[in-house]
Amino acid sequence: MAAGLCSAAAFCAGLGTTLDRARFPAELLIVQGDLQRLIFLDHLSPDERLGLEGRIGSALGGIEWLALEYEALTKSTVSRDALQRLQESWLTRDLASALEWVSGLARNHSLNVGIFSPDRATLDDVGRVQEIDAQLCQGCHIDSVGAAKILPAYRLQDMTRVISGKEFLARLLSGVRGTAETSLANPLSLGDIRGFMKLYRSAAD
Ligand code: HEC
Repeated sequence: MAAGLCSAAAFCAGLGTTLDRARFPAELLIVQGDLQRLIFLDHLSPDERLGLEGRIGSALGGIEWLALEYEALTKSTVSRDALQRLQESWLTRDLASALEWVSGLARNHSLNVGIFSPDRATLDDVGRVQEIDAQLCQGCHIDSVGAAKILPAYRLQDMTRVISGKEFLARLLSGVRGTAETSLANPLSLGDIRGFMKLYRSAAD
């Protein structure tokens, strides 16, 4: 949540439909990653578990709409059966089965990492992002796993060490929110995203 990153719309390149197309695949990767954390990380605090459960629940609450948007923008078809089984597995707290269904969907509708590749970041992108990172992001992202918080802001450097480049990209695309003036839209530009990928990851695997 980056407050005041991009106050005047005119200065904000914005991600527009590039982001719209990525929303559904990104959400799948985030739900997949959140389920993996819930299943495999045994040193989470009770608050962190609560936060993850809340986030997965609300992500699945909106996933049908994202699927519709994605289908309209990409002319592809999402399996309603898979979506339903994912929902059912989650509702009965069969986490392993939920993880299987979401992983299958994520494989079939993969996030297009090419356009966000760190290799495409210019020197300007990296310089600009380094400044934003130091002035803004680092100030909030100070928590470690195990923090007694429902929605901790983990150290970004730690985050990139334990998740794939694809998942980090998905979280950059959906996790960074603007202010009320930007209707909470992601204030980062395409160049910013590439810059952050370069700053935090050498390759988007
Ligand atoms: C005002 C404090 C604040 C600032 C500034 C901030 N963040 Fe965050 N960020 C958070 C919190 C709190 C969360 C977790 C909330 C959630 O998951 O909904 C978060 C979530 C995220 C996530 C998703 C993490 C996840 O678990 O999915 C990413 C990636 C991220 N921020 C990157 C950034 C970057 C890059 C910047 C700088 C441009 C930034 N943030 C600035 C507080 C902040």
